[in-house]
Amino acid sequence: MNNILRVALPKGRLGEQVYERLDKAGYSCPEILEQSRKLVFENLDKGVRYFWVKPSDVAVYVERGAADLGVVGRDTLLENSPDIYELLDLKLGKCRMSVAAPEAWRDDASRALRVASKYPRIAARFYEARGRDIDIITLNGSVELAPLLDLSDVIVDIVETGKTLVENGLRVVEDIVPISARLIANRAAYHFKHGELETMTAALRKGIDA
Ligand code: PRP
Repeated sequence: MNNILRVALPKGRLGEQVYERLDKAGYSCPEILEQSRKLVFENLDKGVRYFWVKPSDVAVYVERGAADLGVVGRDTLLENSPDIYELLDLKLGKCRMSVAAPEAWRDDASRALRVASKYPRIAARFYEARGRDIDIITLNGSVELAPLLDLSDVIVDIVETGKTLVENGLRVVEDIVPISARLIANRAAYHFKHGELETMTAALRKGIDA
């Protein structure tokens, strides 16, 4: 009998888009689309079990082997460096990690730059590579507020449409890295369920090219 693949999907719009891809790739589980508070769904005929997981927790489930596969944004991978295999760029959830600041902001190299971010490691690495001294202020959300209240000079954050920046009088100063959703696998599962994992990855890859 084939091994069941346990897949952690990020709860929300991205997860729904990923499920659509999985459905087309032959891993359907229609019950998952019914509005409910249920978190685990399976279709044993197709050899899959899906979990709805908070997006920022997906890599934890995969790294520790509670899920064989998962879908996470590249931002999470760069920030947390989980010990997993990255299998595929799903080319969904595309956005960028950028530095943004108020329209009138000009850098003053004579003092440490105050940087607010949900991504302190990405921000620290970016400025370290340029030898720029920074004071990192870690926040959990609505980071755009920080420069408006003079908590920080700039922010390092995700920019998708740019609407949040514009509506708060901010502009992109420079882009750090492009972001998109990635299919990741648990390292042990990658070896023990290699056939099943490769079959699913190949089917998903076809869906991207189509
Ligand atoms: C993300 C990000 C920006 C916004 C960018 O925030 O941190 O705030 O989306 O999108 P836009 O360029 O299309 O306006 P999220 O919605 O995850 O909420 P948060 O700020 O509370 O983290």
